[in-house]
Amino acid sequence: MNDRAQRRIDARMLDIAARLASRARGDVEPDPLVGCVVGRVRGDEVEILGAGHHRRFGEAHAEVEALRDCQARGADATGATAWVTLEPCAHFGKTPPCVNALLEARVGEVVIARRDPHVEAAGGYEKLTAAGVRVRFTDASANAIHVSDPFIHRLQEKRPWVIAKWAQSIDGRIATRTGESKWISNDRSRLDVHRLRSRVDAILTGIGTVLKDDPMLTARDVRCVRRTARRIVVDPRLETPVECKLVQSAQAAPVEIWCAEGVAPEKARPFEERGVDVIASPVIGDRIDLRRCLERLSTEREATNVLVEAGAGLLGALFQADLIDEVRAYVAPMLVTDREAMSPGQSAVVDSLSDVARFELAETRRFGDDVRLRYRRLSNAGD
Ligand SMILES: NC(=O)c1ccc[n+]([C@@H]2O[C@H](COP(=O)([O-])OP(=O)(O)OC[C@H]3O[C@@H](n4cnc5c(N)ncnc54)[C@H](OP(=O)(O)O)[C@@H]3O)[C@@H](O)[C@H]2O)c1
Repeated sequence: MNDRAQRRIDARMLDIAARLASRARGDVEPDPLVGCVVGRVRGDEVEILGAGHHRRFGEAHAEVEALRDCQARGADATGATAWVTLEPCAHFGKTPPCVNALLEARVGEVVIARRDPHVEAAGGYEKLTAAGVRVRFTDASANAIHVSDPFIHRLQEKRPWVIAKWAQSIDGRIATRTGESKWISNDRSRLDVHRLRSRVDAILTGIGTVLKDDPMLTARDVRCVRRTARRIVVDPRLETPVECKLVQSAQAAPVEIWCAEGVAPEKARPFEERGVDVIASPVIGDRIDLRRCLERLSTEREATNVLVEAGAGLLGALFQADLIDEVRAYVAPMLVTDREAMSPGQSAVVDSLSDVARFELAETRRFGDDVRLRYRRLSNAGD
């Protein structure tokens, strides 16, 4: 088979594997999302023998699920190809090594979208090749590469994958000059946000949004809530009103406030009495050190995905510190046309386009008359 035909097949199989992998978003983290397809290539076609994905934290890995699927269909995987989004693990963790399962099934070839940088799990490629299995890495499917971005980002950067979400007008405004933003996006877009809330580890907002909107930040009207996100307010001077919805609902879903080190402990007491964790956070000058706070969230809470739902102040600070990995902008069919209206991120003075942060378009999706644009930070594009 020529290289182009092989690449086409790899892309098709790995796209399927990536789609399967992403079904478990919110169920497997801090494990990686992984998908696998086992098939036999016949000319330019592939007979799919089995497919599977890592479904839940601590449970069977994708390769094992795919091989079980082969068995259930009565298909023999001997000499077949396994396409997998992440390098198969070679260690005994919560489950036995996936490499062993592939070797026992006597697959002939393994095609991998991304190398696993996890020190303990590493060695899959070496073990498979030593056993005579043909192993190829390929960048044929961007979806397969990027499905493990949050996992790899957390391992390498020691902080969570940060997704900034906002609703905007066509002319890029997220609120009017008086701070009105309810509602820019439509019901379907908002339901999509609720679904996302039910899959992330934490939701970050700023004190400005709490004072203006009094948000709840819980996942509502979602059929399957996979995890309850920790709701966090960046509030340097501890100005959050005790009677706000977030504090009042702290018993139902966790709430944390990041205030600056040095804020008087008695100021924290009314919050703590209501079950809110008040975290005295490190500062740089008079600003909370958001990078260190996110690192703590990753190490102490094992947070893989963090959603930011804030206004220009916090978004701008995160953009400036280069801490946003993904953007989800819901564009609604309206124009504000007021230069005093808020845009997402007002913090930097930029004279030249060579100084701007650049993203790549990952996906567009329509929700009625709204469009969701999903962008990934360019530096995170693959290994
Ligand atoms: N359309 C949408 O999707 C959407 C979503 C959320 C909110 N909004 C709108 O956004 C508006 C609120 O925006 P906003 O900018 O006032 O609020 P915000 O971004 O929620 O919070 C801003 C506050 O966070 C503080 N802050 C940010 N980074 C900090 C850091 N590193 N250390 C310490 N403090 C930090 C700022 O402190 P300083 O004052 O010291 O700078 C400021 O007080 C509202 O009108 C709301 O409706 C729109």
